[in-house]
This record gives sequence, structure tokens and C-alpha cells, in this order.
Amino acid sequence: MIPEPSPQPPPAGGGRLIAVASGKGGVGKTWLAITLSHALALAGRRVLLVDADLGLANVDVQLGLEPGHGLPAVLAGRLSVPEAVRPHPAMGFDLLAGCSGSGALAGLDEAAHRRLLGALRDAGPRWDDVVLDLGAGLDRGVRALAAASDILLVVATGEPTSLTDAYAVLKLHRRDRPGGDARLVVNQAADRAAGERTWRSLDRACGSFLGGGVRLAGVLRRDPKVPEAIRRQTAFLSRHPASPLASEVDALRAAL
Ligand SMILES: Nc1ncnc2c1ncn2[C@@H]1O[C@H](COP(=O)(O)OP(=O)(O)OP(=O)(O)O)[C@@H](O)[C@H]1O
Ligand SMILES: [Mg+2]
Repeated sequence: MIPEPSPQPPPAGGGRLIAVASGKGGVGKTWLAITLSHALALAGRRVLLVDADLGLANVDVQLGLEPGHGLPAVLAGRLSVPEAVRPHPAMGFDLLAGCSGSGALAGLDEAAHRRLLGALRDAGPRWDDVVLDLGAGLDRGVRALAAASDILLVVATGEPTSLTDAYAVLKLHRRDRPGGDARLVVNQAADRAAGERTWRSLDRACGSFLGGGVRLAGVLRRDPKVPEAIRRQTAFLSRHPASPLASEVDALRAAL
């Protein structure tokens, strides 16, 4: 049985809440959440990146940063969000880190998700954009945070399993947040045309069975420089600013 999340009000007073989800794991949510946050910061926005993958947080690992207090302190009520964030000086955004690999935040109850949303709301208009890196899967917490977002970015690759999971995310989001703004990001596409084919097949399925298609947020190509940048814990946009993929990320950022 799929648990039903209770409806959540949008949390960030003033700031835009952008959640990144996928259903299927390993499609590039964390990399996109980090790189989009970086792109938004480069465009002059004040950005908070929240590692909301409550089971297996790893934004700090991809960034090569000490996580600091982060989300556990906020959920325990020990610190406010502004007290628990740490700046990422090189990328120009703030990070609310998760609880890397410990699983300590997995299986959190609904009250914890409400506390997180409330804490983000209390932080008020301090940030223009709050980017949430959600975990894989479709558990109650992922659904509640997706439903509370202003824009939900659903990341999919061309793989059939990824598409099926993206469809499931979209279907539940329409139930949880009727009229909500969910958009598809095709990641690791061979090229633009292949990415658009992936989008069209999902768009058709949504049109036929969910009463309306899905908007395309962007197509991002597969680039071997991504895993290389992650291995080196360096920012993709700083390392490869003139690459086609950097332009695609920036186009996605501009269209938000
Ligand atoms: N555009 C891309 N081109 C090439 N490789 C990519 C691209 N995007 C992501 N990857 C690779 O995919 C792998 C998974 O990325 P990432 O950890 O961001 O996925 P995820 O969806 O957050 O995974 P999880 O569900 O485990 O949290 C990484 O090794 C990364 O290098
Ligand atoms: Mg991840």
C-alpha cells in the first residue's frame, strides 16, 4: 500500500522551493541539484541547497565538504536553518547537509517532514531559491517534500525503468498537489533529439493516462566529464564552463 502524505503548504516564505526527484536511483539528482544551485548562484540568486535525501545523504560527499551540523540538528530542534547551514565559498551557495550514509534520518515520520518544512519557512526570505535534493524512491517523505515544492524537477534517463519511475512520481504528484508545477529533466541523453524522444514518450503517457502531458524543463547530455568532476570533488561549471552540458544546465536554470 502506498502511504498518503498529508497536504503541505509551500514552505519557504519568499524563496522559491525547487525539489529534485526521480523515483529511480542513480540518475543524477544529486549532481543536478548541486550544479543547478551553482548555476543559480552564478546568476546572482541567493541559494540554499538542502540535502533532503534523508536515508543516504551525500551532497557533502560530492562537494568534498565537512557536513557541519546540518539537517539532524534542525530536525532535533537544536538549531534553526540559518544556524545549521554552511556556506560553500567556491560555489556561492549555502548548504544544509544531511546525515551522510548513517541512515540516521531514514524512516522519519511525517512530523519530521513538517518540522523541516516549518524550519525552512521560518528562515523566511533569506534565500531566493531553496533547492531540495530528494532521495530515490517514493516514500511518504519524498512525496510530502515534492508536494510542498513550487517546482518539482523529475529527473529521468532514457532507460525504461527510469521512465516508469518518473511516470510514477508524476502520477503521485498530481494526486498530492493537483495543478502543481512538475517538469521533466532528461539527463544523460545521447543528444538533444534522443532526450526529446524520451520526453515525448513520457508526455504521451501522461497525456493519455493522467489527463495532461508533462512540461520539458531541459535535456542534459551524458558527459564523461561529470563523473570525473565528481571524483575530483570539483564544480562542473567551474571546471568546464564552456562545455555544451554547462550551457544546457544554464538554459534549464534560465527557464525556471
Ligand atoms: N549528465 C551526466 N553525464 C554523465 N554522467 C552523469 C551525468 N549525470 C549524472 N551522472 C553520473 O551518474 C551517477 C549518479 O549521479 P547522482 O549521484 O547525482 O545520482 P542520484 O540520482 O542522486 O543517485 P541516488 O538516487 O543514489 O541519490 C554519478 O556517478 C554521476 O557521475
Ligand atoms: Mg543522490
